[in-house]
Amino acid sequence: MAKLIMVSNRLPVKVEPDGTSKRTTGGLASALEGGAIDHEQVWVGWPGGAVEDFDDLEKVRAGLEQEGVRPVFLSQDELDGFYEGYSNSTLWPLLHYMVERARFSQSWWQAYQDVNRKFADTILEVAEEGDLVWIHDYQLFLVPMMLRGRKLGLRVGFFLHTPFCTSELFRVLPDRAAILEGVLGADVVGFHTYNYLRHFRSSILRVLGLETETEGMWHEGREVKMGVYPIGHNRTMFEEVMGGPEFPEVLERHRADLDGKRLILNVERLDYTKGIPEKLGAMRRFLELHPEKRNEVMFLLIAVPSRQGVKEYDELTEEVQREVGAINGKFGKVGHSPVQFLHRGFPLADLAALYVLCDVCLVTPLRDGMNLVAKEFVDCQRMEDGLSAGVLILSEFAGAATELSQALHVNPYDVDDVATAVNRALEMPEAERRERIEAMRPRLRKNHSGAWAKQFIGDLNRVPMRDERAPTMKLRPLAGDLAKRVKAGEKLGLFLDYDGTLRGFVDVPEDAVPDPGLPQLLAELASVDGLSVAVVSGRAPAFLEEHLGGLGVTLVGEHGFRWLDGGEGEWALFNPHVNNEWKSGLREHLEQVSLETPGTHVEEKASALVWHYRAADPEFGEWRARSLLDEVTAMAANLPVTVHHGKKIVEVSSLQVSKGEAVDYLIKQWQCGIALVAGDDQTDETMIALEPEGVEFLSVKVGKGSTRAVYRTDITGLRVFLEEFRECLKR
Ligand code: UDP
Ligand code: G6P
Repeated sequence: MAKLIMVSNRLPVKVEPDGTSKRTTGGLASALEGGAIDHEQVWVGWPGGAVEDFDDLEKVRAGLEQEGVRPVFLSQDELDGFYEGYSNSTLWPLLHYMVERARFSQSWWQAYQDVNRKFADTILEVAEEGDLVWIHDYQLFLVPMMLRGRKLGLRVGFFLHTPFCTSELFRVLPDRAAILEGVLGADVVGFHTYNYLRHFRSSILRVLGLETETEGMWHEGREVKMGVYPIGHNRTMFEEVMGGPEFPEVLERHRADLDGKRLILNVERLDYTKGIPEKLGAMRRFLELHPEKRNEVMFLLIAVPSRQGVKEYDELTEEVQREVGAINGKFGKVGHSPVQFLHRGFPLADLAALYVLCDVCLVTPLRDGMNLVAKEFVDCQRMEDGLSAGVLILSEFAGAATELSQALHVNPYDVDDVATAVNRALEMPEAERRERIEAMRPRLRKNHSGAWAKQFIGDLNRVPMRDERAPTMKLRPLAGDLAKRVKAGEKLGLFLDYDGTLRGFVDVPEDAVPDPGLPQLLAELASVDGLSVAVVSGRAPAFLEEHLGGLGVTLVGEHGFRWLDGGEGEWALFNPHVNNEWKSGLREHLEQVSLETPGTHVEEKASALVWHYRAADPEFGEWRARSLLDEVTAMAANLPVTVHHGKKIVEVSSLQVSKGEAVDYLIKQWQCGIALVAGDDQTDETMIALEPEGVEFLSVKVGKGSTRAVYRTDITGLRVFLEEFRECLKR
């Protein structure tokens, strides 16, 4: 069985300079610890600390390797640029919508790339063909692409544990394109919520100009699947602790400490995304509004130290300490301070006991990818053991809010809203508390971290083993077979669309000229005895002749209206009797729409009118195209035309002209025994749908979308096939 290589910057263990190790805190580490995974596992990650601080590196390395960990040691300089800098002072604030905190530095970006490469190299040291590599989180965005093409058959997954911010913010990042490209090296990309996936897709569209669908996209000859996998808490770990022999004692200890006070619990890393100052504002408001409860409640603020050394975090610690002091100074009395701030981590048994004992769990991040504390709290309620149920107050900006609908949802920026919710929770009758917990708990218990990991790994396991992925895989062997048959004297016709098939789209169609290798490739193929090649395009004759003329390749322009036999001489019409009187009325309407929609224009072809919207705002253009399609279809109901929605175009064309008609004619003219057609959009479907009698007919769809074609690939995949075909013909 393939092995599973887990890759995260933060390992579930942190090693101290003397070589001893301890559990680390944070959602990712706690969720992945001891996951119910069947594969043999290796972890690749940073063991914490700077490499200079370890007394005996080899001893540390050997110790970690015994625990199945392959460490990536980082120097202090690397930590400054990669960890504190780019990861936590650029990406982290930006992904959490805090653009004003994000800082940008070229040297941090350099360090980020270097350390990502170091991770990729370490993975390749342990990886074998077919292994599953699961890369976690924003610190390692570039690693998936860095693994591509370096070892055959790795199946690579990427999961983001933070939010993915709206594309409007993501675009601020100077290195936005490289980051997105980095992630697209993965075969499966996962997010906690549908919204994060949606933002990722719109960033791909707006930054890279690439269209995607909800389930994924085709990119450089491979399928990239995208999915929503909400992470769960580590249920087993909590069950073990709560079922352990010491737990009753821990529970009693905390109960005694509370001394009858009602506990309002907060547990988080000390991070500005968690909204601690805002929460303190709400506590202050609550204490102002409810003097009768001041002596009754205790706000316990457990804030685990995090990313110390990063300026924002150090400043936040001081701010929280100041504000806690101020609140206690104002509302405390001898023997009771309403807010207790504990700036350290706690063993799981203590956390579980506090979850059980609290009246209210206050989870109010300003933004949070998921938030496991909320899930752990709900799962730890033990009404069946006669304990009373607590109330969860949850920020609507935590990923967990989509799943925990029975919590009291609050806007963490609104101190009055939070203060009111705290009071409502404290006054809530036991029956309602139970009802709310009981409505949320079964789902959480099922979707725990082990189930989450299993589901993601299951999807990764379904990715085919080799790098030359499925459709390209099927096409490539065809190259050898076809070459053999041509050499044996069979006649083959190749009919290739141009835009979106031989060449990718760009904003200005005139710029989409063939890359330097393409004319030569087509010319070499066309020069082979028994092989005829045609480029079948919607383009005007002048463009085709300028870039692909004189190669011995037949050119078909304007969707099958005109053709140039062998790429030289005079253009001829396939059908000289086409009626184009329908154009005038529709032209006027299309021109009006272009005036109203910036970035669009109308192109007139011999037998077609085309409205182009490639240079328009992508979402606005798409929306306008859809309504235009309805309008034009209604207007053209009785005309001899067909309307179709292609890649960034709406086209109205004469029914008497099509690529299919043209190819059918050429197949007969050339007396082909075999014909291969390839195209990417609806106009190409007219050739793909042909069923020429007595001819072996092979059809290839390039890219996504519905088709009748037998094979599917993308531009790179088709190119690889054609090049391979040329090599086989030479052999
Ligand atoms: N946690 C812990 N010890 C503590 C406080 C918290 O182990 O003293 C754990 C907590 O149980 C939870 C995780 O840290 O599993 C925090 O994860 P969450 O998703 O809430 O936030 P993140 O740290 O990922 O931002
Ligand atoms: C969040 C991030 C994790 C990170 C954790 C702790 O959960 O998504 O990637 O490991 O915080 O932060 P740290 O910087 O200590 O690793």
